[in-house]
Amino acid sequence: MKYVPISNRLFTVNRKNFVSRLKPCSLAIFHSNDEFPRNGDQNFLFKQNPDFFYLSGIGQEQSILILFPDCPNPLYKEVLFLRQTNEHIAIWEGHKYTKEEAKAASGIESVFWLSEFDVILHTIINYADHIYINTNENDRYSHTVPYRDIRLFESLRAKYPLHHYERSALILRDLRVIKSDIEIELTKKACDITRDAFVRVLKFVKPGVAEYEIEAEVTHEFLMQRATGHAYSPIIASGKNAIVLHYTENNQVCKDGDVILFDFAAEYANYNADMSRSIPVNGRYSKRQLDVYNAVLRVMRAATKLIVAGAAWNEYHEEVGKIMTGELIGLGLLDKHDVAKQDPKMPLYKKYFMHGTSHHLGLDVHDFASRYKSFEVGNILTCEPGIYIPEEGLAVRIENDILITENGNIDLMSDIPVEAEHIEEIMNE
Ligand code: GLY
Ligand code: MN
Ligand code: MN
Repeated sequence: MKYVPISNRLFTVNRKNFVSRLKPCSLAIFHSNDEFPRNGDQNFLFKQNPDFFYLSGIGQEQSILILFPDCPNPLYKEVLFLRQTNEHIAIWEGHKYTKEEAKAASGIESVFWLSEFDVILHTIINYADHIYINTNENDRYSHTVPYRDIRLFESLRAKYPLHHYERSALILRDLRVIKSDIEIELTKKACDITRDAFVRVLKFVKPGVAEYEIEAEVTHEFLMQRATGHAYSPIIASGKNAIVLHYTENNQVCKDGDVILFDFAAEYANYNADMSRSIPVNGRYSKRQLDVYNAVLRVMRAATKLIVAGAAWNEYHEEVGKIMTGELIGLGLLDKHDVAKQDPKMPLYKKYFMHGTSHHLGLDVHDFASRYKSFEVGNILTCEPGIYIPEEGLAVRIENDILITENGNIDLMSDIPVEAEHIEEIMNE
């Protein structure tokens, strides 16, 4: 790992909160993510399962966590299983956690090697009534590959058919959405690294640079500051490329007179930032670009004010839709008479602003949370309105990350340049 070690208080408290919501006499099992093959004998860079990390702080592959608060043998109330290293692994892959290191990172006293998992589980599982399995219930999840927790469930159900199987996800959905002080600090760190990369890019961009050169600048800054890397595939989309919402080719040359839409952010210690900015390639917005830019910025500012505890998702999105509609009329993109007659289920603004305004942010970029629960203190949400005008080859999105507190909200990206004049000023220094 590249990040500075995190206090294990984060994970100890997370486990305490999690087990407090289990039914009596329950045992919960969590697996790390699979390693995915890239080619012949190589894997993709390993990415820890967010729930596993949330409860253990362990970033290593092939790890298992058992939580059994009512276990009659106190040794097994919290147990971590790790891959045992050897000379071969040490030479080819490098250092793996020792038991002592894993204890320090996680705050878990009982650490065993993976080879002991089956035997230990069998000695305790029949003292539990309920077995909690960690299924991926993110409602944006659409992959069909059976992951470790699912494979474990299949084998456990065959071996222990009369236990009651339960879903950890229901508990984690409520817990993970409320960020603790340490999580807020880590997210802020990811935002700060992202800020520095953006300022670096503002000084770098000029007509003729290629999108991939900008991506390289961003990656450089991220790694120099101990980020794991990008929070998601970076979007460096100049001109009409920005109309494609998930453009990641980043292979075109930036042209004089175009706007570039960036959506890039750092991942630090598994916590993500998520930022979008839209800047003029030549350092000056045209009149039309400025009008569109400021319209989006006004929507972002107005939407940010609505991100407060108690706000309901659908009402929030409807309200932002109305504000956006007003701006699109002002820009001449929508006609107010057509708007008056629009089908409320298919509002016309969606032609130019076709995605949601906000999502939760955390260990996942689109963080695990209920779509139907009102905003709460401790949520971190993005605020990311955009206007996409294919006929003008112009798209503007601005995205900041907003923390809800008892006393309103805090923009974790308030120090990232966003005013058009400020952006122009830095670009022309
Ligand atoms: N970067 C992904 C998103 O904005 O949702
Ligand atoms: Mn986002
Ligand atoms: Mn984004």
